Amino acid sequence: MSRALATDLSTDRHPLPPALDPARIPAHVAVIMDGNGRWARQRGLPRVMGHRAGVEALKRTLRLCSDWGVGALTAYAFSTENWTRPGEEVSFLMTLFERVLARELEGLMKEQVRIRFLGDLEQLPSGLQALIADATSRTATNHGIHFNVCTNYGGRSELVRAARRLAQQVAEGQLDPAAIDEARFAAELFTAGEADPDLLIRTSGEQRISNFLLWQLAYAEIHLTDVLWPDFDEGALLAALLDYQGRQRRFGGILPADAAP
Ligand code: IPE
Ligand code: IPE
Ligand code: MG
Repeated sequence: MSRALATDLSTDRHPLPPALDPARIPAHVAVIMDGNGRWARQRGLPRVMGHRAGVEALKRTLRLCSDWGVGALTAYAFSTENWTRPGEEVSFLMTLFERVLARELEGLMKEQVRIRFLGDLEQLPSGLQALIADATSRTATNHGIHFNVCTNYGGRSELVRAARRLAQQVAEGQLDPAAIDEARFAAELFTAGEADPDLLIRTSGEQRISNFLLWQLAYAEIHLTDVLWPDFDEGALLAALLDYQGRQRRFGGILPADAAP
């Protein structure tokens, strides 16, 4: 009974808060989900409980972004540097990714979410790789929000990989070095085909990029919040989007109002 009720509630749409301008919703939001460990420590819980709570925050954020008209959500789930954490935490995370993906796939299908995993996936456990391949292909033609989960992702490693792939094509005589421009380079990144993020959110008060989307964030607006990721909720997302809508994006140019002589 309570389970059925919970399911019904989870399918309710969240209306766009009136404070937001529907014409200026960011097309692509990227998020560095940080602070799970601190959230758990504040409660006297093991760090991994923070990761479990972080999954709920991610589901919440995906649903809100989808309902509010964000076209793509890219979330940093595991960095190439996160392998240096204690073995138990790393294996807990890998098992958590497997369980959550298996459990949520039907829901993603129902919501028309197109999920992709960005990163060096070959280093992930084979069971997780299989689930990723299945979820990616099953949701590939869905026409809802693009949900990109960065798993074993590192910005530098992504750039090196792109350079190597281009060099390979040159070495094979298929590519003229003079034909390598920004678009050609971007096409070799994990994010190929996705527009760059308009807004980057980082939680937990940290003020750094931590090797996330080094190329793609070139002109993203940055919203930093002290909220710990497991506490990231509708109010926190609204605050981020209001902050974004208050920005003047110039992309190196000047605003029309400033162009007058
Ligand atoms: C982010 O939370 C999740 C991952 C990096 C997997 P952290 O685990 O980094 O939490 P803090 O920064 O230690 O609080
Ligand atoms: C960034 O958080 C990586 C993810 C959110 C997956 P970290 O907690 O790993 O970053 P640092 O170590 O504080 O820079
Ligand atoms: Mg952290």
